[in-house]
Amino acid sequence: KEKEKNMLYSLNKEAARYYFNNLTKDKTALKYLYDRGIQDKTIRTYGLGYSNNSWDDIYTFLKSKGYSEIDIEKAGLIIKHRDGNRYYDRFRGRVMFPIIDVRGRIIGFGGRVVRDGQPKYLNSPDTTVFSKGYNLYGLNIAKKYSRDKILLVEGYMDVISLYQYGINYCVASLGTALTLNQSKLLKRYSNDIYICYDSDNAGLSAADRALDVLREENINAKVILLPTGKDPDDFIKENGRERFENLFKDSYNYLDFKINFYRKKYDLNTVEGKVSFTTDISSMLKNIKSPIELDAYVKKVSQETNISVDAIKEEINHNRDSYV
Ligand code: UTP
Ligand code: MN
Ligand code: MN
Ligand code: MN
Ligand code: MN
Repeated sequence: KEKEKNMLYSLNKEAARYYFNNLTKDKTALKYLYDRGIQDKTIRTYGLGYSNNSWDDIYTFLKSKGYSEIDIEKAGLIIKHRDGNRYYDRFRGRVMFPIIDVRGRIIGFGGRVVRDGQPKYLNSPDTTVFSKGYNLYGLNIAKKYSRDKILLVEGYMDVISLYQYGINYCVASLGTALTLNQSKLLKRYSNDIYICYDSDNAGLSAADRALDVLREENINAKVILLPTGKDPDDFIKENGRERFENLFKDSYNYLDFKINFYRKKYDLNTVEGKVSFTTDISSMLKNIKSPIELDAYVKKVSQETNISVDAIKEEINHNRDSYV
């Protein structure tokens, strides 16, 4: 197993170097990145590359380097054809993002179509060296700067774009919801975690879940909300670094986010919506130890719903009782 892992690290490194060299030769792919504001220096820092639009390009290259079909398939870079023994390249015509672990080893790839096409992003499958739920994109770089805080975003391009603006402490989960193992990994580098997902329904739901996952690791993460429809890459390009950094001051803690999020999830014009909202929030409020803090939140919920402060407090105490 150890031998196979080392083989895969070397193979991935060869592949990344090959993709990188392709990118410097492919005018369309390079122009695509330049059009998105990506600079040469960033391309080198993140080792970006390009997979040619061919069925057997990486296959032929890696074979010429002495790797067997079995090896290349184990790396997830080729896929066996349904009928027979032929293989074809997994990544074709895509900008390539090497995924690098905290020890600097290339464990997999993400690939984005140049302009249009489906799926927009394609990732390596899980392999002997790559488990999506155990790794975070960009942590190899962010960990150098993360003495202070880490910012969790959705996408490869968000990490890279923010980096260019000097926000160099960003990581992205790899096309999946944040896992408990990713939280554990984050905790090794920082206790001050901020979440800034895309400002759409999917992003809000993902942030809601990420807060709970992080909380299981006793991380009190905060959520940064962007204007509707924007992601961090869009926002920083339009508004610059200072405006982006100002968002940290307005970030939402666990309860503030939950109250805001559930307020929109339920229809507070109906009795049913008010009850569901208040019940949900009350079950979270029961954990607050400070009476002052609790009072402030109870008033907030009361204002949102017109349910009396007394009733909410009673609901919270009722919840507390049933948990002792
Ligand atoms: P987004 O669609 O928000 O990506 O998906 P993006 O980075 O903003 O896209 P562009 O390049 O600016 O248009 C966020 C992340 O979700 C995963 C990828 O990891 C992506 O970076 N994803 C997205 C996939 O795995 N597959 C997809 O088809 C789309
Ligand atoms: Mn999105
Ligand atoms: Mn996005
Ligand atoms: Mn984007
Ligand atoms: Mn009850």
